[in-house]
Amino acid sequence: MLRLLLFAVSYLASDCAGADLGALRFPSAQSINIWKLRAKTAQADDDNGLHARAASFPVSTFTQPLDHFHNTTDATFEQRYWVSTRHYTPGTDAPVIVLDGGETSGTGRLSYMDTGIVDILAKATGGVGVVLEHRYYGKSVGVQNFTTDNLRWLNNEQALEDSANFMRNVKFSGIDEDLTAPNTPWIYYGGSYAGARSAHMKVLYPDLVFGAIASSGVTHAALSNWEYMDVIRTYADPICSANLVRSIEVVDEALRSPNLHDSIKALFNLSGLASDQDFVSILQSPIGAWQDKNWDPAVGDTAFDDFCAALNGNMTDLADVEQDVRLPDGLTVNAALPNYAQYIIDVTSNAWNYVASCTATLEECFGTSDDSRYQVYDISQTWRLWMFQVCTQWGYFTTGPPSPKTPAIISRLLDLDYLHKVCVQAYPPGQFFSIPPLPNVTPVNVLGNFAIAADRLAIIDGEQDPWRPDTPHSQYYAKPRADTVTRPFKLIPGAVHHWDENGLANSSAEPPEIQAIHQQEVAFVQAWLQDFKKPGANATSRV
Ligand SMILES: *[C@@H]1O[C@H](CO)[C@@H](O)[C@H](O)[C@H]1NC(C)=O
Ligand SMILES: *[C@@H]1O[C@H](CO)[C@@H](O)[C@H](O)[C@H]1NC(C)=O
Ligand SMILES: *[C@@H]1O[C@H](CO)[C@@H](O)[C@H](O)[C@H]1NC(C)=O
Ligand SMILES: *[C@@H]1O[C@H](CO)[C@@H](O)[C@H](O)[C@H]1NC(C)=O
Ligand SMILES: *[C@@H]1O[C@H](CO)[C@@H](O)[C@H](O)[C@H]1NC(C)=O
Ligand SMILES: *[C@@H]1O[C@H](CO)[C@@H](O)[C@H](O)[C@H]1NC(C)=O
Repeated sequence: MLRLLLFAVSYLASDCAGADLGALRFPSAQSINIWKLRAKTAQADDDNGLHARAASFPVSTFTQPLDHFHNTTDATFEQRYWVSTRHYTPGTDAPVIVLDGGETSGTGRLSYMDTGIVDILAKATGGVGVVLEHRYYGKSVGVQNFTTDNLRWLNNEQALEDSANFMRNVKFSGIDEDLTAPNTPWIYYGGSYAGARSAHMKVLYPDLVFGAIASSGVTHAALSNWEYMDVIRTYADPICSANLVRSIEVVDEALRSPNLHDSIKALFNLSGLASDQDFVSILQSPIGAWQDKNWDPAVGDTAFDDFCAALNGNMTDLADVEQDVRLPDGLTVNAALPNYAQYIIDVTSNAWNYVASCTATLEECFGTSDDSRYQVYDISQTWRLWMFQVCTQWGYFTTGPPSPKTPAIISRLLDLDYLHKVCVQAYPPGQFFSIPPLPNVTPVNVLGNFAIAADRLAIIDGEQDPWRPDTPHSQYYAKPRADTVTRPFKLIPGAVHHWDENGLANSSAEPPEIQAIHQQEVAFVQAWLQDFKKPGANATSRV
């Protein structure tokens, strides 16, 4: 019950450590349907009690212009940030360690300042820890609604400049010393989307950002993100992975067959759903729980393992995957498929019980053809934020694999047209802004893409991270590089999504690979800081 509640909250408010891109990790109209279904049964409270210890850090705000560049508005907003001075040693050129909140409420990141990477680095350096909330997320909201026009200041350029403006000008309450950049060395940390931002900050603002760590930083933006599922297929329990591949083959084949088409939807209790794409897009949802795996059970989620256990039933051998079963209505399917159907339907077995939680018609719950459903724009519709970034600059539509030879764990009916249509539905042209016909990923990728690099920019990734294909550690597209102190390049064995971000108060209780990455991060940040000189220091001495 507790896990169910935590999971529901994290899905809504992205307020849990493992969440971030997870709120809408498969951007599509169906994700919004499911977001809304879950919103009915869970309370999304921005400042809920999940992080009681972390909540003791005081919150402050910094005034930012909504538009840094083009004078389109005089409006400002209050950007939230939280500060930890528990390790701060004044007068020592100690750094500010800032963690970028990314596409979630900053409250969800506070635990990293208590026992995670911010605390670890602040402790090792005598520095100040900061969590900085991203514009439009949490309470750092400067508009009254999320219409297309009002979202036009939610883009990379504006949000990166927020961080720069903050670093140049912030005055921390209770600290007399001037800790602004570049007079003080700032170490910028981010995980996932915020990891890409961390790399972008180092490249775009080298004078302000002394050092940066991009953890699971998705520096490659892409229209299709089919590789996400391919990573999961590769690393999941082999029987589970094979069951998924076989199940999807059977479903896709049945949908092409006039005789079997209706029976296969009926097996999932989804006969009432007209569109086959709407049907198969429900089936992919439980797979996203892979991303929530974490080495710390208090942070992570076992939903993916629970799903696999349900799918595998009593199978203990890969050969079992090939077994078929004959159902009462005469349909013959692979043995795992009825388990899959039961998992999707059943209200008691899991946290992804959509079908049973639908109290309206199936079309009303899971249909995606009614545009008006995606045009509610009041500020409680927080799904509109990351989706807008997806639709304008990032992409990441989780399509089936492009090659028929690549095994698939999601239906091949999930193509770009189907997944992208939500962009057109949700963001009709405004008076001042229209979204591009397809996301314009070029501005992200020109900043370095898989090859992004700079001195004192660390690239940290997880071997089994479904986002790894979009990072400089992409096993599909990136070139190998050396791992040096100046340009650390580290892949955490067995890790999923930014597993270095969280930590334990008792670090010796962390798994060895997590202790190791934390120690390495401390070591290279300490080494970097030895090279810090206040700007103008040599000039002054010469005068
Ligand atoms: C914006 O306004 C300021 C002051 O009014 C002016 O200095 C600046 O040139 C303007 N910028 C643009 C891009 O119009
Ligand atoms: C949205 O909010 C803005 C102010 O941020 C307001 O001017 C505008 O009228 C609102 N639009 C709608 C359609 O409610
Ligand atoms: C399937 O749907 C029917 C009709 O909506 C309902 O009576 C039945 O209980 C559902 N089956 C399951 C397993 O939930
Ligand atoms: C697994 O369970 C199914 C039905 O639930 C049964 O028919 C089958 O014999 C079982 N297989 C093994 C290996 O126990
Ligand atoms: C810290 O963790 C280690 C390893 O699990 C354990 O042996 C030790 O007792 C713990 N220390 C404290 C203070 O809890
Ligand atoms: C300080 O020295 C460095 C390297 O010697 C040089 O690149 C930099 O321009 C100097 N700074 C100033 C302000 O003169």
